[in-house]
Amino acid sequence: MTSTTGRVCVTNHLGPDDIRDALCDDVRGGLVADPKHLAPKWFYDKVGSDLFDQITRLPEYYPTEAERATLVMAAAEIVERSGASTVVELGSGSSDKTRVLLDAFHEAGVLERYVPFDVSESALAEAAWMIAARYEGVVVDAVVGDFDRHLDCIPIGDRRMLAFLGGTIGNYEPDARHRLLSAISDTLCEGETLLLGTDLVKDEARLVAAYDDSAGVTAAFNRNVLSVLNRELDADFVPDSFDHVALWDPDNEWIEMRLRSRSAQRVAIDALGIVVEFESGEEVRTEVSAKFRPERVESELAAVGFDVIGWWTDPLGQFAVSLSQKR
Ligand code: SAH
Ligand code: TRP
Repeated sequence: MTSTTGRVCVTNHLGPDDIRDALCDDVRGGLVADPKHLAPKWFYDKVGSDLFDQITRLPEYYPTEAERATLVMAAAEIVERSGASTVVELGSGSSDKTRVLLDAFHEAGVLERYVPFDVSESALAEAAWMIAARYEGVVVDAVVGDFDRHLDCIPIGDRRMLAFLGGTIGNYEPDARHRLLSAISDTLCEGETLLLGTDLVKDEARLVAAYDDSAGVTAAFNRNVLSVLNRELDADFVPDSFDHVALWDPDNEWIEMRLRSRSAQRVAIDALGIVVEFESGEEVRTEVSAKFRPERVESELAAVGFDVIGWWTDPLGQFAVSLSQKR
């Protein structure tokens, strides 16, 4: 479904049944598995997207400000080296940091089109209007979709730079990450570019604090996924009966987020006709957030046909933004 008003066009590739079907598959696969797990994209309903926005403003959550500082420093070079006139952004959310980039493209007089792409329709619609109002003459082609399935819905045409910020690529485990990067590479034409935000390996205390803040916002965000299951799949989770757990896995170099059942309990998921049993202390893995070393970013990009042509970090070296070109 597509709706166009002025310079804003929103195309929705997710029918209500579509979301529900994918959610059913994921939950069926994830909650009967051992250990139990859930896919991260289900965090971002309206409440979840708002909570994530709050996370980005927490003192402990350094990635947002570190990436913003990096973009401020690098923006002019990114405009020049990418040679792009269209900026596509995967997982654009509120498009807040993106303004730093779009400002630079706009000031250089080269920005024609912005294509925000997100699974969260509420976040996307707000962002699309905000961007259209800010940049006179720029077309905003918003895509509501799942980048695991709908990358082929990205409009082609002018020279594009695809931005994938926020360290969201780290929410994929290595095999799935390779598949997604490979699909992104297939989406781009020779010479087009990928701007990728990756959080870097650093000391454990700082990493864990970023995912277990003292105000409990991340805990609320993590538990919200259970409210999504209650609403969408007629489940009867009591979110407060699960504790938020964030820990650093030094072998995989990722933060792992879990929900730990406070007691033995049974949860009915009516839409799936199943009852899931939890032992006291049993954990569901809800998310990983991989942290990178520069060599790994470069080799994973090279493996899917990208040459890194730019690398920037914030002054403290916490977060990296790379620009790479499709061979
Ligand atoms: N880029 C923003 C938001 C990062 S949060 C920032 O840097 O702050 C991750 C975003 O990706 C959310 O807006 C979420 O809705 C979106 N997202 C997660 N999985 C997705 C998927 N499979 N397809 C499309 N969007 C997805
Ligand atoms: N892409 C973000 C990250 O990995 C997502 C995120 C931040 C997140 N905090 C979270 C996901 C807490 C789940 C739970 O940093």
